[in-house]
Amino acid sequence: MIHDHKSNFLSSILIILVMLGVLILNPANIAIAASSTPTAYKQRVIHSPDGIGKYYMEREIAQVMGHIGAGWLERLNREAEEQPSKIVGMLNLKPNDVVADIGAGTGYMSFRLAPLLTEGKVFAVDIQPEMLDIIEFFKQEKNITNVEPVLATLTNPNLPFASIDLALMVDAYHELEYPQEVMQGIVKALKPGGRVALVEYRGENPFIMIKRLHKMTQKQVRKEMQAAGLVWRETKNLLPQQHLMIFEKQA
Ligand SMILES: C[S@@+](CC[C@H](N)C(=O)[O-])C[C@H]1O[C@@H](n2cnc3c(N)ncnc32)[C@H](O)[C@@H]1O
Repeated sequence: MIHDHKSNFLSSILIILVMLGVLILNPANIAIAASSTPTAYKQRVIHSPDGIGKYYMEREIAQVMGHIGAGWLERLNREAEEQPSKIVGMLNLKPNDVVADIGAGTGYMSFRLAPLLTEGKVFAVDIQPEMLDIIEFFKQEKNITNVEPVLATLTNPNLPFASIDLALMVDAYHELEYPQEVMQGIVKALKPGGRVALVEYRGENPFIMIKRLHKMTQKQVRKEMQAAGLVWRETKNLLPQQHLMIFEKQA
């Protein structure tokens, strides 16, 4: 009887060890472990109605703006309110630059960058196929050929390795569900010395009438970009409601 208990106990231990081995050696699990720090995210039950209850570096991630809101991105008074054309000027682009517009939405920024990139192009990256359909529509309508729509996943911008000079994110970073993994993908896609430009509504200013989770402070942005291995270069405060922050991948 005692012998039976002992052998049952030993076989249970053996089964657990085999299962652990399968879990550890499964390539899918290895891939997850390599791309995401296990403690990177925290989930909280009580959270803002504008967020997803998931926190990264103590910041709650905002809900994604659905394609139903595409009209808001294309609103006629956007130029007067936000002066996005100033962003284009502040990026110091060269004609042969390759730019990734991450979270491109309708391609509002992509189509303003493309004419400057006479020998380069824009990857217009988004997770919503409906947004990419809108980008395709504008490509035809505006007869612009150097904007290439790219369907991303929640964790991967799906960009070729060392292919881009600049990743631009306008009002998009705060809603990435997996910021750590997306930034790893962006860093891999940047050429050595490549830049990341982040445009976010100023979280420091309570009078900017944008939902709190859709704004970011400079301190938080710098913390998160540093975690991605990027070096802060400059912050431009020339826009009425947003700050533009430039980071660089070390050569
Ligand atoms: C508020 S819109 C901004 C669109 C555009 N940048 C603009 O300024 O007009 C944010 C966009 O980011 C996209 N997005 C959210 N998570 C993403 C991810 N992980 N990768 C790529 N795009 C993402 C959303 O689908 C949405 O179209």
